Amino acid sequence: MRIPLRNSEQAYGLISQAFHWVVAGLVLLQFIWAWRIQQLGFGRERFDLVNQHKSVGLTILALVVLRLVWRYFNPPPPLPAGMPAWERRAAGIIHGMLYVLLLIIPLAGWAMSSAAGYGASWFGLIHLPDPVGQDQALMDGLQWVHRLLAWLLAALVVAHGLAALRHHFVKRDAVMRRMLPW
Ligand code: HEM
Repeated sequence: MRIPLRNSEQAYGLISQAFHWVVAGLVLLQFIWAWRIQQLGFGRERFDLVNQHKSVGLTILALVVLRLVWRYFNPPPPLPAGMPAWERRAAGIIHGMLYVLLLIIPLAGWAMSSAAGYGASWFGLIHLPDPVGQDQALMDGLQWVHRLLAWLLAALVVAHGLAALRHHFVKRDAVMRRMLPW
């Protein structure tokens, strides 16, 4: 089955679906990386994993910015007509928070890396400027923000996934199916 590039009234198009599932996969990777980093003592392997975590996080940041631009020019299909107002509001709030967190978490990570004195690069190819100078207290604060918001993101992703499953299995509408490529 060929999926159109752009969103239609019924379903998300190929570009929106690709942004959604690639970002979802990379976010999952970020948590696996963070967990592996916490298991390791200081050394080469940990250093490499932290750098990969930074590069993938910056990729997510860039993809989310592009995704928001695409969404502006190509709005999502409308929600089913009979959907209660509270569900529409809840979906809007959760989607908005997911976007905000996917911007703030990588930005906090980037600033934290600069405050720690290491800086950040994208797979060693593009070296990013330092948004802040080296500062231990700032680094501690940003690490706390990065960690707290990452766990808030994880909770919202679970709520988002459960809501999609409820649409499919309980309400039996097309809301989940329209983000699936099949
Ligand atoms: C959506 C993107 C991201 C997610 C979901 C994410 C998630 C996480 C999580 C869950 C941790 C472990 C927190 C803890 O318990 O201490 C962590 C640690 C960390 N993150 Fe991220 N992160 C993201 C992007 C970034 C970016 C873009 C950077 C830097 C450019 C970054 C730099 C770091 C650093 C330096 C650590 C600490 C590693 C250590 O313990 O040495 N993160 N991140």
